[in-house]
Amino acid sequence: MTEIKKIGTIKLIICDDLKNTAKHGAKIFAEAIRKKSDLVLGLATGGTPVELYKELIRMNKEGALSFRQVNSFNLDEYLGLAGDHPQSYRYFMNKNLFDHIDIEKSNTHVPDGTSENPDISCKQYEESIKEANGIDLQLLGIGSNGHIAFNEPGSSLTSRTRVVDLKENTINDNARFFSNKSEVPKKAVTMGIGTILEAKKIVLIATGANKKDAVSKSLNGKPNPNIPASFLQNHPDCTFIIDNEAS
Ligand code: GLP
Repeated sequence: MTEIKKIGTIKLIICDDLKNTAKHGAKIFAEAIRKKSDLVLGLATGGTPVELYKELIRMNKEGALSFRQVNSFNLDEYLGLAGDHPQSYRYFMNKNLFDHIDIEKSNTHVPDGTSENPDISCKQYEESIKEANGIDLQLLGIGSNGHIAFNEPGSSLTSRTRVVDLKENTINDNARFFSNKSEVPKKAVTMGIGTILEAKKIVLIATGANKKDAVSKSLNGKPNPNIPASFLQNHPDCTFIIDNEAS
């Protein structure tokens, strides 16, 4: 059973389980791409979006959805990891989505983790988003501490794409993808909260009991830098799709 509520400006969809959150999310993405074939997507990594990407791959393989004219911008990348590193977000995106759909790889953008001048690369990333006329539809996950992309607690509402230090609990949460915790980079490049809030539409997906607290604090109480996802309350078209465990 799916429950739909409105909390302030945010539309909240509560699904039974991860599979259904993915189905719901994929439907929003598919409908938007069918309406505008050259849609500009903002994409996310982490465990949560994998099922949604599987749904999009299925639709693409069945001939029901084409990404041929779609452009994409990923939220973030670990500083120091090249695109062919198995734990880099470029590698993740290729493996979990881009390699399986008809998107032009040259239309996919992930921040450069190995730039010699990361500050200049961050400015160029912002410029590329502007040149593409901004992000139409942004997918987000949420960290257990309320982070979005790699905007950790303390990030400002107006932050832009930049290099950030990762918090200890983010390093701990993400260590499961590495063979040991010491391999997790301590810094990353991330779109800022200001960058994310400029997307025309935002969909955040959260599943599992370890996201319950972050989801609740993001939806209730005033937007504040301690819970970066709470700033999404300032967006006019933001949907949270969560499962029962996260609600
Ligand atoms: C990382 C990413 C975030 C993502 C978060 C949650 O920190 N930078 O964009 O939302 O992980 O990931 P998961 O879905 O694996 O819980």
